[in-house]
Amino acid sequence: MRIANVSFGCSFCSGVVFVAGFLCASAGFASDKKTEAHLLQHGSQKIVEPLVPQISYQGDANSLSFLMLGDYGEGNADQKSVAALLEKVCQLANPSAIFGLGDNIYPKGVRSADDSQWKAKFEDIYSAACTKSKPWIAVLGNHDYVGNPGGEVDYARKNKQWVMPARTYVVHYGPLLDIFAADSNVESKCAAPDCGFGELQKQATVSSAAWKIVLAHHPLFSVGEHKEPPNGLAEKLIPLYCAAKMDFFFVGHDHNLQHNQGKFLNSSCEINEFVVGGGGAQLYPVEPAPGITRFAQKEFGFALVKFEKTTATFSYYSVKNGMQPVYTVVVKKP
Ligand SMILES: [Fe+2]
Ligand SMILES: [Zn+2]
Repeated sequence: MRIANVSFGCSFCSGVVFVAGFLCASAGFASDKKTEAHLLQHGSQKIVEPLVPQISYQGDANSLSFLMLGDYGEGNADQKSVAALLEKVCQLANPSAIFGLGDNIYPKGVRSADDSQWKAKFEDIYSAACTKSKPWIAVLGNHDYVGNPGGEVDYARKNKQWVMPARTYVVHYGPLLDIFAADSNVESKCAAPDCGFGELQKQATVSSAAWKIVLAHHPLFSVGEHKEPPNGLAEKLIPLYCAAKMDFFFVGHDHNLQHNQGKFLNSSCEINEFVVGGGGAQLYPVEPAPGITRFAQKEFGFALVKFEKTTATFSYYSVKNGMQPVYTVVVKKP
């Protein structure tokens, strides 16, 4: 199905343009050409979601930083502790955006864009000046799918901080970085027959960005509670990652902090995976895998990544260790 016009409000897009069907002006997003979309049924409600839209931010060509965390939307004291440290690191690093790696609202997602949980488990928690001012580039987790995942896409039209123009989408940050935001809930009812992976792969293989990353919720490899990926995810994600020569795979789902690197599930390339699941939900223990796990801790926390032309620096922060990173790795472009 094709639709001619998809509109989004956009007060968060100074320096932002929508491409491939979307242009961003101060008055809002307006499509300038036909955009793929899917008609979805949510109970008795029918809504239209665009399929793999692209957003462009005018990113710095030399240096870009991002914070990221997953598994956070509990509204509990642990989420608040992580949020307090997130704000401190945000002020120090001044990231371009924050990646929300799924399980955005526990335990059953939201009913709609107007659900009161948005205030209790997101807006009131990340209300400090720095974190509140940053776009929150989010993907869907399994808990988000228990409720109405389309409600999270709708919320992006209501709260301009929340970036989720569809369940699967692409974000361009100038020549330095392309972000491929995937819906890894492949066992649930995704917004497209293949959850948008085919289109993501098409866009990824033509990307000329210096760094290319995948955001999703489910790990391919994990040394915590969730050792196995959902059925069918590896078949979709490994070709996307390897064919497009991705640099990093950022996920949540396992409630801890992990860095795993290797050929997972017979992948044709080495996958550099960071599990950032310490956002506030109850933690799971880790058992590091020799030769693959570079770091693993059962701690509440988040990550900061800084992309420069030839190096990327990734650091984990934990609530226990405060402003001193518990792990840092520098990756150089060959
Ligand atoms: Fe989770
Ligand atoms: Zn999860």
